[in-house]
Amino acid sequence: MCGIFCKEMPAGKGVAEMDENLEILFDEQTIEQKVAELAAQISHDYAGKELVLVCILKGAALFTADLSRHLAIAATLDFVQVSSYGSSTVSSKTITVKKDVDVDIRGKNVLLVDGIIDTGDTLMHLLERYKSRGPASIKVVTLLDKHSRRTADVPIDYRGFEVPDVFVVGYGMDFGEKHRNLPYIAILKKDL
Ligand code: IMP
Ligand code: MG
Repeated sequence: MCGIFCKEMPAGKGVAEMDENLEILFDEQTIEQKVAELAAQISHDYAGKELVLVCILKGAALFTADLSRHLAIAATLDFVQVSSYGSSTVSSKTITVKKDVDVDIRGKNVLLVDGIIDTGDTLMHLLERYKSRGPASIKVVTLLDKHSRRTADVPIDYRGFEVPDVFVVGYGMDFGEKHRNLPYIAILKKDL
């Protein structure tokens, strides 16, 4: 058993092929191209403005890292982490902020960076929280949009891909903290 760092296996390949429960949905090249497109649009829209990227941990960590590197403009990076309790299908889900941003966002242009928006509850909570701090503007970019599951009417300003109602992992997204470091996004075919 040589594991994922096996010599004959090229970096970034093979993990999904070895795991019969994963089916690649977006490969590295497809993701990279989409991230570059989003970054170009954001760079254009925020030219000359003070931009604060707020990464929603942990799912958006890889996306934020790549997106920020593709920007042609300066940006401040900050991080927020939330916990949610209760079923994601129930609107009474309780969301609490575990780690908040450090920067003062008053008067700044805030862009919330999410990996995947499902019901929209998390984002709704964060939008309300940050709007009350008086930013110059607040917008949302998400790599994935599971639109059919939406229950909260949240605005999405920049969207990478729309995905069907499937459970995805990789490129920051997890199932029980597993699979976040996959360089691609895969459908988890059955709960392990
Ligand atoms: P929401 O508050 O229902 O929009 O939940 C969004 C959060 O649920 C995301 O930031 C993820 O942490 C998690 N999530 C929703 N769908 C998936 C998925 O398919 N794979 C991994 N995490 C997911
Ligand atoms: Mg998760």
